[in-house]
Order: sequence, then structure tokens, then C-alpha cells
Amino acid sequence: MKLETLQKEILFPRELIDKRVKELAEDISRDYQGRELIVIGILKGAFIFMADLIRCLSIPCRVDFVRLASYGSGATSSGKVVMTKDIETSIKDREILIVEDIVDSGLTLTWLVSWLQERNPLSIKVCAFLDKRARRQVDFEADYVGFTVDDAFIVGYGLDFNEKARFLPDIYIIKE
Ligand code: IMP
Ligand code: MG
Repeated sequence: MKLETLQKEILFPRELIDKRVKELAEDISRDYQGRELIVIGILKGAFIFMADLIRCLSIPCRVDFVRLASYGSGATSSGKVVMTKDIETSIKDREILIVEDIVDSGLTLTWLVSWLQERNPLSIKVCAFLDKRARRQVDFEADYVGFTVDDAFIVGYGLDFNEKARFLPDIYIIKE
């Protein structure tokens, strides 16, 4: 399917996204005042949100990335998490904030939290821009959430549909 023929409807315009990102950054900066964070982004989806978020923080941070995939191609989770790139920073005794585009079944974040926990960080929290709460398959709660969304497929602002539409600055719902 070509991007032009993808039926989509705007959900969150960029102005609203910016406002919410700033609020999240304020909450995080306040909670971690006087401490230093290592922010770990999940590629590819989180890179745009993470770039915006860290530039709004008023505390210092370092960044690293993992590359995880739980989706084959299409809109349903394969249920299996595959890591193709690990972090390159030592996280022992450090404060970790995982940044993700969207929580769906919760499998990806549950897997990553336990993967990172084995390296004995001081703390791990999760910031997800979007949360599809109704789709959870495991008990998982993000610590910071931008917006809760209904069970629909979302694109734009880093989120893709078969690698399409990631670059769009606004967030859209795909219409069947
Ligand atoms: P989970 O493991 O089921 O929670 O899936 C999380 C991952 O699935 C996210 O990192 C996204 O990459 C992807 N995902 C889930 N829902 C959507 C969506 O609506 N649009 C785009 N990607 C999604
Ligand atoms: Mg993702």
C-alpha cells in the first residue's frame, strides 16, 4: 500500500504533541532533580520522541539505544521480542529511563526491563509517548505516559506502518 493511499485521520497535531512532550520533560526533570539519567531509546520508533524529550529536560542525561522488534510486518505482534542492537553503556548503579513510542501488548517493555535489570542499575523507569491500555497481554505500567489511545493502529511521529509514515510530524490513526 502506498503512503498516499493509506487512509488516515489526524489524532494529535504537532502543537499538542509539543505541549505534552514539554509537560513530560518537566515531570521527569522534577522527579530526577540533582541526579543524572541514562536515557535508553528503543529503535526505531522512539527516536523522534526521544530527541524532542531530552531537549526539554532541565537535568543532564546520557543517551543510548537498543533495537528491538516484536512486530514482523503488519499490525499484529508476533509476541516474540528480538534484539538486534544492545546498549553500549555500563548501566550498573545508574538511573535508567527507557523511552518508547507506544506500549501495546506490553511484551517489548517487560522483556527489556528484565534484560536491563540483570545489569544492576540503580533504578529503571519507562516513559512511553502513547499507551494502548486495552491491548495489554501482560501486566505492565509505564511510569510516564503522553497519551492513552484506543485500540487502533497509529502512525507518524516515529511510528510506522510497514516502515511507512514514520517521518510525519503529526500522529494519525489508520482507517481500514
Ligand atoms: P508491544 O510489545 O506489543 O507492547 O509492542 C510495542 C511495539 O509495537 C512498539 O514499540 C511499536 O513499535 C509497535 N506498535 C504497537 N502498536 C503500534 C501502532 O499502533 N503503530 C505503530 N507501531 C506500533
Ligand atoms: Mg517500537
